[in-house]
Amino acid sequence: MARILALTNHKGGVGKSTSATNVALGLCGVLRKMGAANNRVLLIDTDSQGHATLVTTGRNDFGADNSLYTVLMADRAQAPQVMAKTIVQSAWDNDLHVLPASPMLEGAERELMGVAGAPYRLADPLSRIALHYAAVVIDTRPSFSLMTEMGLIASTDAIVPVEPRYLETVGLMSVVNKIADIREGWRTQKLRISGIIVTKMDTRVRGHNYLLDEIKQHPTLGKLVCGVIPSNEAVSYAHRNHQSIFAYDPHAPAGIAYLKLVGALLGRLFKAGV
Ligand SMILES: Nc1ncnc2c1ncn2[C@@H]1O[C@H](COP(=O)(O)OP(=O)(O)O)[C@@H](O)[C@H]1O
Ligand SMILES: [Mg+2]
Repeated sequence: MARILALTNHKGGVGKSTSATNVALGLCGVLRKMGAANNRVLLIDTDSQGHATLVTTGRNDFGADNSLYTVLMADRAQAPQVMAKTIVQSAWDNDLHVLPASPMLEGAERELMGVAGAPYRLADPLSRIALHYAAVVIDTRPSFSLMTEMGLIASTDAIVPVEPRYLETVGLMSVVNKIADIREGWRTQKLRISGIIVTKMDTRVRGHNYLLDEIKQHPTLGKLVCGVIPSNEAVSYAHRNHQSIFAYDPHAPAGIAYLKLVGALLGRLFKAGV
């Protein structure tokens, strides 16, 4: 079964979309280099702001007929075919595919509120489509809303990006506990909390080093840290150009750190028996 990774944190601006897009492309490239039989990766953008969609496709004009919104609103029997038709190739790599977000997703939450089985409207069709991919990466919005719950239910692994200034272990534990709470009410509980990515790390800032040490020593959180991404201006420039960090500057420190993270994720998640 393909691993399905949700990048999630209820805080905005912590690097969810940056991590989702670059991890998705990184997995695609590393699996290709390893000679994997299948290196296709699907990126699903559940955030109505559509940042991940914009940078990977160069487009932000997806709407009622050609976005994740279309899949969520489809007749449930038709949803897998609708999903297959809605997925587009990214502009980054032929093997990186995107299920695009649209601003209409904002309204979808209200429209689906109270509809029976609503939280499963992403998970159910995805379970039929995911087998075509080596991995699926889901970008979520900055809240634990219905849309984020849909992403989490569809996932095998939750990965939490955090900035070191928000790294107070109490705050981070509450994110981990919140994910565990949401999971309680589901009909299946395949979701694991599998990783923490420390983003925008500046080793010159004493507070950053202090907080990183603290989290690494924490009995629960320490084991989860799977990557530390340096604060790096190249990330903003890459975004502006709608490029991945790897394409924008192959030597950018953030890109090198994202590749290391991809290696760690492959080791942790994709080996048999994990
Ligand atoms: N490692 C980094 N170094 C510098 N800026 C970053 C880094 N990661 C993300 N950013 C910037 O921070 C902002 C928020 O990142 P984003 O990935 O959109 O966060 P989220 O999806 O959690 O809201 C963006 O402007 C992005 O360019
Ligand atoms: Mg985002």
